[in-house]
Amino acid sequence: VELVTSSANPRLRRARRLRGRRARESLGLFLAEGEDLVAAALAAGIRPLELLATPDAELPAELVDDAVRVQAGVLAGTSTLEHPARLVGVYRRADLPAAPTAATLAVEVHDLRDPGNMGTVVRAAAALGADVVVLGRGCADPTGPRAVRASMGALFRVPLAHAAPAGLRRVALDAHAAATLADVDLTAAVCLVLGGERAGLPADAAADVVCRIPQSDAVDSLNVAMAATVALYEVARQRRAAGPVSASGG
Ligand SMILES: C[S@@+](CC[C@H](N)C(=O)[O-])C[C@H]1O[C@@H](n2cnc3c(N)ncnc32)[C@H](O)[C@@H]1O
Repeated sequence: VELVTSSANPRLRRARRLRGRRARESLGLFLAEGEDLVAAALAAGIRPLELLATPDAELPAELVDDAVRVQAGVLAGTSTLEHPARLVGVYRRADLPAAPTAATLAVEVHDLRDPGNMGTVVRAAAALGADVVVLGRGCADPTGPRAVRASMGALFRVPLAHAAPAGLRRVALDAHAAATLADVDLTAAVCLVLGGERAGLPADAAADVVCRIPQSDAVDSLNVAMAATVALYEVARQRRAAGPVSASGG
């Protein structure tokens, strides 16, 4: 079996470039580091374009023939982790789930800058049944290494989109709103709209209703991913009580 020992190898060069957003966008590729993420992708039916593995890395049976073995120190050069992974998958953005045309529940974020928060929103969306995560202006790249890691592989399950499906009632979340989340009817198809860590909700968020998660005024606000999680939970809670929801959009 061939072993890559040079960091000048074109596969390694490309993997290193994919740590940067511009290269990810121009090549339509991104990295997932570690056995768990590669397994999560596979469980979602997504195979890597390329799989780089240290000589001692254990591979999922389905991918054994696809892996390129790379000296550990050379593979570590592609990593953004303190303890580099033994397995690095290069994935195509186009292989991620396609944006739906209809939905009963969407989460839309604006100016969400922190990649860890972005990944956590995607993870919460997958856990709590959102059909799509909509990326407004100024957001961190959900396929960046920290976001992919924070998503715990949910990125391979939840579709991303740049616009919400049509027909959803837009429920914006703002810590200083007068109405509270529990007072809003979330049983019909909704899009939860959240603002960024610093900027908050954009003025043009086009909300049908704005509401808050009641909290102590000892702090200005909740972390955005926490707020998204609470709101998603409230949607699920109301819907469990109310029965099935029909999708809007199309
Ligand atoms: C960290 S907060 C933004 C704080 C920002 N300084 C502001 O003035 O809005 C990020 C986002 O999380 C959501 N959020 C945080 N705490 C919330 C709460 N108690 N109720 C509703 N939404 C909240 C909002 O969507 C907010 O735009």
